[in-house]
Amino acid sequence: MSKKIITIVGARPQFIKAATVSRELQKVGVNEQIIHTGQHFDDNMSDIFFRQMEIPKPAYNLDINSLSHGAMTGRMLEQLEIVFQKENPDMVIVYGDTNSTLAGALAAQKLHIPVAHVEAGLRSYNMNMPEETNRILTDRISSILFCPTDKAVQNLEQEGFKSIPTKIIKSGDVMQDAALFYKEKAKLFSTVINDFNLSNRSYILCTIHRQENTDDNNRLSQIIMALNELSKNYTIVLPLHPRTRKIIAEQKIKLDFSPIEPVGYFDMIELLQHCSFVVTDSGGLQKEAFFFGKFCLTTRDETEWVELVENGFNVIVGAIHNRIIEETHKIQNTTKNFNINLYGNGKASRLIAEEILKF
Ligand code: UD1
Ligand code: UDP
Repeated sequence: MSKKIITIVGARPQFIKAATVSRELQKVGVNEQIIHTGQHFDDNMSDIFFRQMEIPKPAYNLDINSLSHGAMTGRMLEQLEIVFQKENPDMVIVYGDTNSTLAGALAAQKLHIPVAHVEAGLRSYNMNMPEETNRILTDRISSILFCPTDKAVQNLEQEGFKSIPTKIIKSGDVMQDAALFYKEKAKLFSTVINDFNLSNRSYILCTIHRQENTDDNNRLSQIIMALNELSKNYTIVLPLHPRTRKIIAEQKIKLDFSPIEPVGYFDMIELLQHCSFVVTDSGGLQKEAFFFGKFCLTTRDETEWVELVENGFNVIVGAIHNRIIEETHKIQNTTKNFNINLYGNGKASRLIAEEILKF
């Protein structure tokens, strides 16, 4: 009988990460069931990814969202336990560092179902980030840790993971696989460049959604102030996360440009390939900027993707207006060869599927 695996997804980046792994699981003959916690639920934050990336339809959608951290994680834990008891999987796969990740890992571990964590070992060393708690706890209770980078493996070793019975595998980054796999489809199907009349324009691609920025009025205002200033010379393309849209409206923060609605993955890949550079607090987008040869200014105080900063592809600018403007001027006068392999060869998903089959 083939192995039965349950994959937990809930937030936008998890759909993207699960897409390529799910395809490889099918190829190696694993029987995969997807459970959507419901954390993200708008069509352009969820369903569009399933349609475009041809991710199998979830067997369950728990519809748990828009709650405080404890309530969201707690309800997911309770509901996932019920599903796991009913479905009795051989293993549960979780991705990244969201509340859905932690709830999935914890519900499985309490039932003694082995957990595979994809994107393990990343650390910001900032315990105020909800994601840092989620990743540390998830790593500790997982049976296989798929690390995207050397640094991720080192982080785990430093935390003493060598002395606990967990398999640590450097797999490379599944987001690299996704970028390579969907690039041609994006070119074929996305009309975003024409839709927004961007073909002859220099534009900056931005995203803002990180809690440390959205829930701190000063940080959010500084970032928006910098984007307003940059909008005098550049077109600003800001697909705005619903969380940030709500807060900007509540705080009555003035934007000198019009943000757009969140876009699907194909549009995002096209926007990345044609932009001048990226300004973001997103984890995934920092790497995608690199995949497509674009500099990235990261509006955070640290990053988990330290190799991007060490190699000069990414600059940590915090949420400081002057620094964002200053670094923008610097990168405009810099050229760089992006042709180095930091995230594997685009075969991380295959390796993960094979390891899961073997486990
Ligand atoms: C979550 C993850 C974060 C990840 C991000 C990806 C946690 C703790 N955070 O943050 O790590 O980087 O997803 O985008 O798990 N909302 C909508 N429509 C949607 C989705 C969300 O309106 O489709 C609203 C919710 O109602 C909520 C707010 O956005 O009020 C925040 O959503 P939530 O999932 O709690 O956190 P994110 O900021 O999206
Ligand atoms: N993304 C997208 N549409 C958007 C904004 C982002 O498809 O409007 C993609 C982006 O290209 C990347 C992923 O979503 O693949 C990153 O997700 P997000 O920034 O929400 O979360 P993080 O990576 O910070 O956890």
